[in-house]
Amino acid sequence: MAFEGVEATAVQAASRPAYCDLVADWTGAGQGTAELYLRMAEHQLRGVSPSYEALCRAIAGSEAVCAQLDRLPRDKRQPNLLLGAVRYLDGPVDDPATFLDFVTAQWAVVADTMMTHLTQTNEPGRCATLLPLLASLPQPLALVEVGASAGLCLYPDRYSYRYTTSMGEHRLGDSDILLSCAVTGPVPLPERLPAVVWRAGLDLNPLQPNREDDRRWLASLIWPEQIDRAERLDRALDLVAADPPRLDVGDLLTDLPGLLADAPPDATLVVFHSAVLAYLNHGQRSRFTDVMHDLKRTRGVHWVSNEAPGVIRGADIDPRPHNRFVLAHDGVPLAVTGPHGHSLDWLP
Ligand SMILES: C[S@@+](CC[C@H](N)C(=O)[O-])C[C@H]1O[C@@H](n2cnc3c(N)ncnc32)[C@H](O)[C@@H]1O
Repeated sequence: MAFEGVEATAVQAASRPAYCDLVADWTGAGQGTAELYLRMAEHQLRGVSPSYEALCRAIAGSEAVCAQLDRLPRDKRQPNLLLGAVRYLDGPVDDPATFLDFVTAQWAVVADTMMTHLTQTNEPGRCATLLPLLASLPQPLALVEVGASAGLCLYPDRYSYRYTTSMGEHRLGDSDILLSCAVTGPVPLPERLPAVVWRAGLDLNPLQPNREDDRRWLASLIWPEQIDRAERLDRALDLVAADPPRLDVGDLLTDLPGLLADAPPDATLVVFHSAVLAYLNHGQRSRFTDVMHDLKRTRGVHWVSNEAPGVIRGADIDPRPHNRFVLAHDGVPLAVTGPHGHSLDWLP
């Protein structure tokens, strides 16, 4: 799966085992740095980001840059972190030779940026894949997102939506931030946006939508050709900055019950997450599944997950989709989703 991104001085110690595991999951055991970048070029970037594909191939072919990367901890060698760091530093990303020269000449500051940041991409487009399930629950909702980043997915009621089906279009909402999603299967497309009466997020390192440096880092993590995503990110950050959610610093394995204690008792309590559990190792994912089943039993929590296949015990589907997520309710798979929210294929 594609790495997502982060800033995190404070996060590093706590998250290192999880990131190591993510690297191992993604690259396969024993894979070297050149192979890591070639694999990224082949499987993630080809046909999506020609500029980054060329850069990753060039990095893989540069013994000098690979040797520099090899001096970093394994979890810090990931392509999206290096590419995001160079963009954050306003380095060149449109020509492989100039890029390699920049990385070599500026290695100290590039490495420092990589060491002090984590991939932490926040994609509001994912709300399009969460919305039908959220709208089908008893309203109103108290929403809690674990791994919230800057909290952009905590506002599914503030965006507008265009679902494209074989029958035509289904539109919803009047926001000028429009999320488009192609759907197949018996998806329960809602007539109304969900009513959200309370929202809060939990993250090891919450980002602030009104903090210039956080915005810059989030923008640096979007691949250069994805101009629509970059524009949408900017507008969603403005929307959320105008009415910021509660974002607590905390670990989803230990700090969720404390946050839930503050939720209003008369709303349907939903805990959701997307593109987060890949940051946990296998044991941590299993513990989190136990936490959620326990909260379901004791607090009546609805658990909504949108994660890569295979990361939630019992919520996998076969055959595994390539580069896509599985939407599940209380651990039961409902749909296969595009990782940035552009598609929703409801299971029969
Ligand atoms: C890729 S971002 C996804 C953000 C958002 N859920 C979305 O879909 O746009 C993953 C987030 O999970 C957070 N995270 C990773 N491990 C965590 C943990 N154990 N507890 C809380 N947050 C965590 C990271 O800091 C990061 O902000």
